[in-house]
Amino acid sequence: MPQKSIGVIMNGVSGRMGYRQHLVRSILAIREQGGVELASGERVQVEPLLVGRSEAKLAELARRHDIADYTTDLDAALADPRWEIYADFLVTKARAAAIRKAIAAGKAIYTEKPTAESVDEALELAALARAAGIKNGVVHDKLYLPGLQKLRRLIDSGFFGRILSVRGEFGYWVFEGDWQPAQRPSWNYRAEDGGGIVVDMFPHWNYVLENLFGRVQSVYARAVTHIPTRVDEAGRPYAATADDAAYGVFELDGGVIAQVNSSWTVRVDRGELVEFQVDGTHGSAVAGLHRCRIQPRNATPKPVWNPDLADAHDYAADWLTVPENDAVENGFKTQWEQFLRHVLEDAPHEFDFMAGARGVRLAEAGLESSRTGARVELPELTLPQATLVGAAR
Ligand SMILES: NC(=O)c1ccc[n+]([C@@H]2O[C@H](COP(=O)([O-])OP(=O)(O)OC[C@H]3O[C@@H](n4cnc5c(N)ncnc54)[C@H](O)[C@@H]3O)[C@@H](O)[C@H]2O)c1
Repeated sequence: MPQKSIGVIMNGVSGRMGYRQHLVRSILAIREQGGVELASGERVQVEPLLVGRSEAKLAELARRHDIADYTTDLDAALADPRWEIYADFLVTKARAAAIRKAIAAGKAIYTEKPTAESVDEALELAALARAAGIKNGVVHDKLYLPGLQKLRRLIDSGFFGRILSVRGEFGYWVFEGDWQPAQRPSWNYRAEDGGGIVVDMFPHWNYVLENLFGRVQSVYARAVTHIPTRVDEAGRPYAATADDAAYGVFELDGGVIAQVNSSWTVRVDRGELVEFQVDGTHGSAVAGLHRCRIQPRNATPKPVWNPDLADAHDYAADWLTVPENDAVENGFKTQWEQFLRHVLEDAPHEFDFMAGARGVRLAEAGLESSRTGARVELPELTLPQATLVGAAR
């Protein structure tokens, strides 16, 4: 009997995320292992359909990875029942229009974040998906990082006592593009093209904070453009109209205060490109992408402030490394497998378009706070009745 399979439309697969994380590290890795395993032990194979604007690029990718199907015709792909899932890795600006089409075609949808450019549009997509009764999911990759998995386990074990605060540091120097090529696409630095570090990173911070520590109740943020001119992929200077650094304070359910700095204009002096320090009454932890270190209260030193003496204490040596007790796979792949099981056997996958909309809302509120200088309150986000009625029509 031929093996069961599920077809996945992969739109924007030639991009950075589409190619590396979603095609190579997720879908091809799942194909390579013989498919996704269901609760019954049965395996369902995945079949990608590469979609993009350049036929030549798609043909090259298909050849390189032995993929049978590719097309530049999204409408035809959506009309073909062979492809049950639509996956979107386009630049943010192009996403909502493509997702609307996929909803109308009745596909299950899995997408990169942010789901849309405004919270109204993100809610509209959530309402349309709900009215159409289609399964939907949004990438929440940071939660699957080994470092954050260790942090999750510390929280679940009660290690921290009462959590007081979280300090996140994310960032690295992104070259301006003049004397060295930039290591990120130039659209990220143009607001008119959907760029900006708030729009890019606050959706991540929303799901990290709400899933690990508590719902975000309010945000104060200052977003700035430190480098006003950059040089694009073709060597042309352009005005960097989007924010390249953001300094945010978030108040969470339970009174936890989180501060997160996000910056493409900072030089790294930490163990990893993102690190979160969590301080609780019974212990503290510093978690990065991979590693996690802890300091319980009964191993906490007792510093005394004295500017007259150089402090000989080695504070870094006071921390214990959390061991690698589990082999953790690529987070994009793990989440893909969860989403595939959600589609195939209704297994749980909680990171849906509403979770995506909350991320977009935090970005929008962060930018509003930066413009006005005010702290922005964030009530529970629900689908407005009018949106649901409008979407059902
Ligand atoms: N989860 C994460 O950690 C993470 C990291 C980086 C980016 N992202 C998100 O992934 C998405 C893609 O980012 P990237 O860094 O891969 O960008 P990229 O520029 O490398 O790729 C974008 C893709 O969109 C296509 N595209 C560009 N303009 C288009 C248009 N007008 N119509 C149709 N297709 C178009 C490009 O051909 C390319 O395939 C963005 O929404 C970004 O926010 C997520």
